[in-house]
Amino acid sequence: MVKPGRAQIRYATGGIFMGRHLSIIVIMPDYAKLSLNGAIAKLPVFKGTEGERGIDIRELRDRTGLITLDPSYANTGSCTSDITFIDGERGILRYRGMPIEELARKSTFLETSYLLIYGSLPTAKDLKEFTTNVTRHTLLHEDLKNFFSNYPITAHPMAILSAMVCSLSSYYAETLIARTPEELNLNIARLIAKVPTVAAFSYKKSIGQPFVYPHNSHSYTANFLQMMFAVPAEEYKVDKDVERALEILLILHADHEQNCSTSTVRLVGSSQANLFASIAAGVCALWGRLHGGANAEVMDMLERIRHDGGDVKKYIDLVKTKKNKIRLMGFGHRVYKNYDPRASIIKNACHKLLRKLHIDDELLDIAIQLENAALHDPYFLERHLYPNVDFYSGLIYRAMGIPTNMFTVMFALGRLPGWIAHWKEMRGDPGMKIGRPRQIYTGPTLNHYKPLAQRR
Ligand code: CMC
Repeated sequence: MVKPGRAQIRYATGGIFMGRHLSIIVIMPDYAKLSLNGAIAKLPVFKGTEGERGIDIRELRDRTGLITLDPSYANTGSCTSDITFIDGERGILRYRGMPIEELARKSTFLETSYLLIYGSLPTAKDLKEFTTNVTRHTLLHEDLKNFFSNYPITAHPMAILSAMVCSLSSYYAETLIARTPEELNLNIARLIAKVPTVAAFSYKKSIGQPFVYPHNSHSYTANFLQMMFAVPAEEYKVDKDVERALEILLILHADHEQNCSTSTVRLVGSSQANLFASIAAGVCALWGRLHGGANAEVMDMLERIRHDGGDVKKYIDLVKTKKNKIRLMGFGHRVYKNYDPRASIIKNACHKLLRKLHIDDELLDIAIQLENAALHDPYFLERHLYPNVDFYSGLIYRAMGIPTNMFTVMFALGRLPGWIAHWKEMRGDPGMKIGRPRQIYTGPTLNHYKPLAQRR
């Protein structure tokens, strides 16, 4: 294998990469030529609609015996996709070509879901039909309610959510394979409709309150809020500003191309696992603290700083020591090397909502100080670390009364249409194959079995 030290790299219109036995000649824009020990592979260069280019290495191993090695996929395109465009250097995010800022200002979550899943904005008729479909499927099968009683009171709502989403597949066996577009659309509507109900029921169970059933007179987001916060003993009125803020948050989380959970959904779905099972796997992937779990971690971090006297500089210095791999949560991103456009919208929405609700949250002040300190610190500047979507989102959820352990569930609610859109795109691709990465084996070479008596 060519080690980086032994190679030379030169870029030009064409470029050349040379090692002892290996050279890659890049002839832009059409193809790259790779030569290994005299064997030559001509590899096409694929160009996306926004000018991104990638070398198509599908035939590399057949022609040269080599595979590529990229353990965290930082430099690997796993698919082509028409759904979401991100330019991490310029801080751009678009769904189906539409800037996230426009969608956050003008759209609703259900409309954006339709856009992501079906490829274009719905007509008034399409939107009505889609909304009606979703609204009519918000109830859970009554037997499913028993599941909630069997979890310990301390159960994490993400554990419940993933299990319940997977369990839905056992209730809809007749359409599970989705042989027709109608059956697939039914599965899609059921998922989008029922996930908020599952989420709200898991919260009600955790605080010992009775479940509040969905109500068809509400919008999608208002319905979720009433299932979370209404009690049978009183009338509950949904605050319009809270409803709109939630709508914006869900839109901003709705898709983010090949992130960890979406790639998981695609990989699981590529084995032809059903939609519910694939999404349940995505929920589990999202749970981790480096992904969707970061929003709850941000809150813990802010609480910790407050507890410690509010000294943000002390925390920044601690992060810089890298002791115990401690990180500034809600900062940094694999793709964004600039301000995450979602973070700036959320920051503004957060200020607006807190002002409207007359909430003076000390944690927001700490978050702002922390951001300012980090954005003036060479450690963060050199590494291009900026606030990401999770930095301010928790402060809005908190203002809405949503508890910290539900934050990642809120992320999942938002990401649902993105997961579905990617699953649908992948399964609709006639060239789809099961996802199956390779590896470079580094374990023992041939090593024969020893009977127990001969082992020491
Ligand atoms: N705090 C301190 N240092 C950081 C941070 C951070 N939040 N993020 C990255 N770094 C440093 C890292 O230590 C490394 O330094 P060095 O070059 O000295 O080794 C450098 O920056 C590059 O980091 P990396 O780990 O190679 O970057 P990555 O692309 O693998 O990781 C990330 C991306 C999001 C996992 C990471 O930035 C992180 O852990 N952030 C905190 C967790 C977080 O907020 N996650 C939510 C991501 S956005 C929502 C989502 O998609 O889920």
